[in-house]
Amino acid sequence: GRFDVDALDACDSTSSELLRRVGAPAGSVVVADRQSAGRGRRGRQWLSDPAASLTFSLLWRLPAGHPPGGLSLAVGVALLRALTRLGAAGVCLKWPNDVLLAGDGGFAKLAGILVELTSDRRGTQACIGIGINLATPAGEFAQPVAGLERAIAGGVERHALLAAILTALVEVLDTFTVDGFAALKTEWERGHAWQDRPVRLLADGEGERSGICRGVDADGALLLATAAGVERILAGDLSLRAA
Ligand code: BTN
Repeated sequence: GRFDVDALDACDSTSSELLRRVGAPAGSVVVADRQSAGRGRRGRQWLSDPAASLTFSLLWRLPAGHPPGGLSLAVGVALLRALTRLGAAGVCLKWPNDVLLAGDGGFAKLAGILVELTSDRRGTQACIGIGINLATPAGEFAQPVAGLERAIAGGVERHALLAAILTALVEVLDTFTVDGFAALKTEWERGHAWQDRPVRLLADGEGERSGICRGVDADGALLLATAAGVERILAGDLSLRAA
């Protein structure tokens, strides 16, 4: 098949483990029941309940001449597709790459995506790391968190979830490789939590900017409409402005 799945009881991080396997073919997957040093974006930790989460990483390659812009958003589209097919309701996307669940108290984080790219003459290697809460984790978190049991009645079995996600990933990555993120942009925006809504953008080392979120462009940059015009945002943390 297109995937070669290595299931481990434990490792430091499925992404670190995969990246140590120099020369591993595209389609290599490492999935672990437990991670001792799960990594999130922007140097953050990724903590997950081993009994109630799915953590895995997939290696993919893009040939030279295929810019990787928008790849992590494309992965978000794959997660949205897979979860929707499993019957999940209320799943939506947050730029650049969180998967949220809409609920009574607002949005809560259901899954995180960490895409690590390395490029050379031959093209780009992407290590795509995904962590999903199957059940709502207990404890204190910087932002509200949710588990899939809130989106799918009866929950979902971990390996069925992995299979559904890998199926959607291969579809989306094939589309991305041939036509780029442009071909997935509309689907991303349909799932976007804050499409055409007022947002506040907190960017590294910069002040706060406010505007109406107009979705993303064909490279995956966020479009923020402000009094000064439409700005393209390439990186940052997005948070919803209080109404
Ligand atoms: C984020 O929300 O900041 C991204 C979180 C990504 C977590 C996953 S879990 C599997 C893979 N291995 C890691 O160490 N991180 C990713």
